[in-house]
Amino acid sequence: MAAINSRTGRSFAGGGASTPSCTRTHQIGALALVITTFFLTRLFDQSFSPSSSFPGHYTSLSNFDDAVSVSSGGSLCWPERGYGTRLSIKIYVYDENEIDGLKLLLYGRDGKISPESCIKGQWGTQVKIHKMLLQSRFRTRKKEEADLFFVPAYVKCVRMMGGLSDKEINLTYVKVLSQMPHFRLSGGRNHVFIFPSGAGAHIFKSWATYLNRSIILTPEGDRTDKRDTSAFNTWKDIIIPGNVEDGMTTHGAKLVEPLPLAKRKHLANFLGRAQGKVGRLQLIELTKQFPDKLESPELKFSGPEKLGKAEYFKHLRNAKFCLAPRGESSWTLRFYESFFVECVPVILSDQVELPFQNVVDYTQISIKWPSTRIGAELLEYLESIPDKNIEEMIARGRQVRCLWSYAPETESCSAFNAIMWELQKKVRQFHQSSETFWLHNRTIVNRNLVEFSKWKPPMPLP
Ligand SMILES: *[C@@H]1O[C@H](CO)[C@@H](O)[C@H](O)[C@H]1NC(C)=O
Ligand SMILES: *[C@@H]1O[C@H](CO)[C@@H](O)[C@H](O)[C@H]1NC(C)=O
Ligand SMILES: *[C@@H]1O[C@H](CO)[C@@H](O)[C@H](O)[C@H]1NC(C)=O
Repeated sequence: MAAINSRTGRSFAGGGASTPSCTRTHQIGALALVITTFFLTRLFDQSFSPSSSFPGHYTSLSNFDDAVSVSSGGSLCWPERGYGTRLSIKIYVYDENEIDGLKLLLYGRDGKISPESCIKGQWGTQVKIHKMLLQSRFRTRKKEEADLFFVPAYVKCVRMMGGLSDKEINLTYVKVLSQMPHFRLSGGRNHVFIFPSGAGAHIFKSWATYLNRSIILTPEGDRTDKRDTSAFNTWKDIIIPGNVEDGMTTHGAKLVEPLPLAKRKHLANFLGRAQGKVGRLQLIELTKQFPDKLESPELKFSGPEKLGKAEYFKHLRNAKFCLAPRGESSWTLRFYESFFVECVPVILSDQVELPFQNVVDYTQISIKWPSTRIGAELLEYLESIPDKNIEEMIARGRQVRCLWSYAPETESCSAFNAIMWELQKKVRQFHQSSETFWLHNRTIVNRNLVEFSKWKPPMPLP
């Protein structure tokens, strides 16, 4: 094996036969695209300029030209900066039969947990993204050419269903990682993991030792309540949208259609259980004081009074604003659901992190209000917002909500494609670790000067 990086023309050190990656035609093409994007963005700006639609002071938190925009034809345009013009990554997906122990992380110790049951609900992303990657044009079956390596696991679901204990999850992960030479090679830097719940990577007890350099996909950007360390790192990890009920996100027959603004019964609503959380308890109190403005039905999650999916969304659509307070952790599925019943989400969760902040300006489509100011003042404020402004926010939300939908890769705007763009930004030409060394002829060796191709499991881990 001459070198690990045998790809040519993709890196500066591509070796010998490298072809120039940006030819004159490419440059002209790129320039044309920049100009088109520029005009499309201008067009978008003019029709949705915040300064024209928002009364009073408005200080933008972002540069509009760099945000994702929608063309007059309705298709989504990616900004030039940071994203380039082409999505081109190669991801290797570990096979369940290739690594001893991986099947346990997917189906539990008895192999009985079914992916069909794990794909549903708010944590379904761990199955959905895996399945989409298996079918994806970005998948490669050659490790030598892979930019990134995806390690599939459905542990959130497996643990919930009693398929593995915390201790087993920890031991199995360590065993799995020790069988991956490429994980050792990069110290895990080009390996991608999904942790779909509020616990984030903490579900793997020793994540901080083994995964603290890897790319973690998670809806949870904060974990300050129970543990003193956050498993989310802004600079290497990626926030993904929660998994909204398919019946609400798919095209065609929708489970529940949005109501016209004038037909909505309430100013605002909060649908969720109190879970003993301060903010949520305050909202329930507020409902008692202002029952005509705020709705917060007590939700039963089992028994005959349990709300069906359709009833849940019928409640949610009946207000202009959908309040999304903090729960067990910062992120809440309600935020994403709001866009599909077309109420304006009001985030009451100070530490929240939102997906795709590189390209989405959340001031255009939502409101974030201090959780320390939940009270009559909040309702007064929401009441003061003219319907015209609400309609505008909803219209903008309607354009970008495709980014929260795990639609097939063939759709240009989907959560999956947005995640691919984010992952592409994480690709590095070269990876190393404290146990990786290289020689004059580009041979990669370990501490004992054994060539990479001869590394044998179990690999030493941190
Ligand atoms: C690279 O150099 C090392 C040390 O001289 C040598 O053992 C190894 O065989 C060389 N590898 C190749 C592919 O030439
Ligand atoms: C996880 O497993 C590793 C390897 O066996 C062990 O060293 C570590 O202590 C375990 N972590 C916890 C929290 O049990
Ligand atoms: C990752 O974990 C290792 C082992 O616990 C530790 O030595 C290292 O400092 C950690 N690195 C980061 C970036 O947190």
